[in-house]
Amino acid sequence: MRNRFSSKPPLRYGMVGGGATSTIGDSHRIALRWDSYYNLVAGAFDRNPEDSRRFGEQLGLDSGRVYGDYQQMAMAEFARVDGIQVVGVMTPNSTHHAIAKAFIEVGIHVILEKPITTTTEDALNLIRLAREHNVLCASMYGYSGYPMIRQARALVANGDLGEITVVQAEFAHGNCATAVEQHSEGAAWRNDPKMAGSTFVLGDVGTHALHLATFITGQQVREVSADRQSFVPGRVLEDNAHVLLRFKKGAAGYLWASGVAVGHRHGLAIRVYGTKAGIAWHQERPNQLRYSPLGETPRLLELDSPELRPQAKRLLRVAAGHPEGYFEAFTNVYSDFAETLIAKLSGTKPDPLCLDYPTLEDGAHGVKFLEACVESADNNGRWCSAELAL
Ligand SMILES: NC(=O)c1ccc[n+]([C@@H]2O[C@H](COP(=O)([O-])OP(=O)(O)OC[C@H]3O[C@@H](n4cnc5c(N)ncnc54)[C@H](O)[C@@H]3O)[C@@H](O)[C@H]2O)c1
Repeated sequence: MRNRFSSKPPLRYGMVGGGATSTIGDSHRIALRWDSYYNLVAGAFDRNPEDSRRFGEQLGLDSGRVYGDYQQMAMAEFARVDGIQVVGVMTPNSTHHAIAKAFIEVGIHVILEKPITTTTEDALNLIRLAREHNVLCASMYGYSGYPMIRQARALVANGDLGEITVVQAEFAHGNCATAVEQHSEGAAWRNDPKMAGSTFVLGDVGTHALHLATFITGQQVREVSADRQSFVPGRVLEDNAHVLLRFKKGAAGYLWASGVAVGHRHGLAIRVYGTKAGIAWHQERPNQLRYSPLGETPRLLELDSPELRPQAKRLLRVAAGHPEGYFEAFTNVYSDFAETLIAKLSGTKPDPLCLDYPTLEDGAHGVKFLEACVESADNNGRWCSAELAL
């Protein structure tokens, strides 16, 4: 089903950010190539124009399509008959809005890193622009591409868990337990409110946990009560946060985001409980989902379990037992977006299962959640609305 190994990738793709020293650039480059949907033909890869040019050459791109800045790139690519159709934006948070806007306004589809903007107002503006210009956008919540996350969503949607009562999500690591911002550019901008927005770990990792919680349960968060603190001396933004959640359909939840959880290694985990069953997933064992129906012995679902739903099965690439993981999940989001976009460009209907890629609207809910957390934490944990009418 997937367009794997085609000699002529159908989508012309450009990249903004993701330069030689970036953290996430390689994940995007791997994801866009894996199923051969995208051909990377243009880029403004670095804040420094010279570094952008050097890196573009290293990637083997036509030097005429390696740009010094994103505005030049948007205009030049728009003017070409063979210009890019889709751009991936992976720069520091505060730049997302202006960059995405420049491409949306010339009709180029966008895959945008999270958090998609630093204010809800900017997120809503991007949604309005995307609708006005008839452009498709994805928010890069890559973890939603794990087959077992799709399985969890399918189980909830099928009613196998009954009414959802309790949701616990966490994304905690110990990578920032010391003042790493003093010697890492990537950590420095994440702790600078002008570049990161008004949160550190809540936006950097907490929004991933929030997205999984809403993606799996199919429920948005109504209000939050947040507590955040900074443990490393001199750090301005929070490096740890606990958030209580009230979901729209009545579920109660809890989210923990941390950069000072020494010993945790990108500890993304989620547990969802309902009146009929509970499920638990941890990124360190991404191909297993613990499924515990009421009154029965818990089962560990694996990628070859007969219980696997089509939503998960369609994403498998190798026989169960071979480890599949992070890069495949990222690729699954890229490929779902590609199939949806190809259908749009050719005036056909996409496979409905592709539509599970994270959208700009999902990204906007994430930004609203961050604003609500800040408002709540600044007011001693007062319950604050995280609702967003879209
Ligand atoms: N989805 C995920 O799992 C995930 C993981 C890591 C980072 N991210 C997100 O990706 C984004 C980038 O994070 P990172 O860790 O790669 O940052 P980074 O600091 O490691 O890299 C940023 C890159 O963007 C370039 N850049 C900065 N401003 C630019 C501009 N105006 N034009 C062109 N290039 C520019 C820099 O030169 C650098 O190459 C952030 O929004 C972050 O939240 C997402």
